[in-house]
Amino acid sequence: MVEFSLPRNSKVGKGKHFKAPESAKRVKTFNVYRWDPSTGENPRMDKFEVDMDTCAPMVLDALIKIKDEVDSTLTFRRSCREGICGSCAMNIDGTNTLACTKHIGEVKGDVNIYPLPHMAVVKDLVPDMKHFYAQYESIKPFMQTQSPAPSNRERLQSPEDREKLDGLYECILCACCSTSCPSYWWNQDRFLGPAILLQAYRWIADSRDEMTGERLDDLEDPFRLFRCHTIMNCANTCPKGLNPAKAIAEIKKLMVERQV
Ligand code: SF4
Ligand code: SF4
Ligand code: FES
Repeated sequence: MVEFSLPRNSKVGKGKHFKAPESAKRVKTFNVYRWDPSTGENPRMDKFEVDMDTCAPMVLDALIKIKDEVDSTLTFRRSCREGICGSCAMNIDGTNTLACTKHIGEVKGDVNIYPLPHMAVVKDLVPDMKHFYAQYESIKPFMQTQSPAPSNRERLQSPEDREKLDGLYECILCACCSTSCPSYWWNQDRFLGPAILLQAYRWIADSRDEMTGERLDDLEDPFRLFRCHTIMNCANTCPKGLNPAKAIAEIKKLMVERQV
């Protein structure tokens, strides 16, 4: 399942220290997790001093500046820089969040940056997302119907039914929630985790989808759904302000309702 794996409790050594230019007046230090499997070396924390007078305000801006000007081997994912693609998710200052929407000014003292926790690491800040995406695929994240499609228009939805998708469709699959969930840390081989369960509920809640029963059957399992113990880390960390725990509770409620 995982090609490059690194237990997060591996010894993390002290790394290199890159100083800011002597002329820099406002210096911020970024401690960044580094690991390159091709070297065979243990992971290390590199220290980068950045001149904030020549750096844009977000953590991703600092990482891009470091990569451009100091160490081109620093590896991380990013695409949109707008909190839309979900690819720059990482652990910053102890919280899973998006580097592109995390303001450097919010962090007091040094900025400590790690990959998302409890995931195998491909390199530096890049976690291995294969298993997460396989779990996403498993919930069939697309509309499934049995009735014939209308011949001259789309399948329509009332404004009230459309509103039921608010708080669900905005999920960008960044995995910040799942990788903050203790149940997911210890059981991610079998528990789907908050992100994927929120996505599962997004289709269960869609009035146009006609496979609700099958979707619930598929989740009725001691691990896939019921490993959620309502610890709420997921809702606290979501950078889009969503509440996966609430979606999970809705699924559990539907399971109970269909039995009475
Ligand atoms: S509420 Fe459930 S899914 Fe969310 S962090 Fe807690 S155990 Fe994990
Ligand atoms: S629910 Fe929030 S934290 Fe979880 S994957 Fe979606 S956007 Fe990311
Ligand atoms: S770069 Fe797309 S969410 Fe941060």
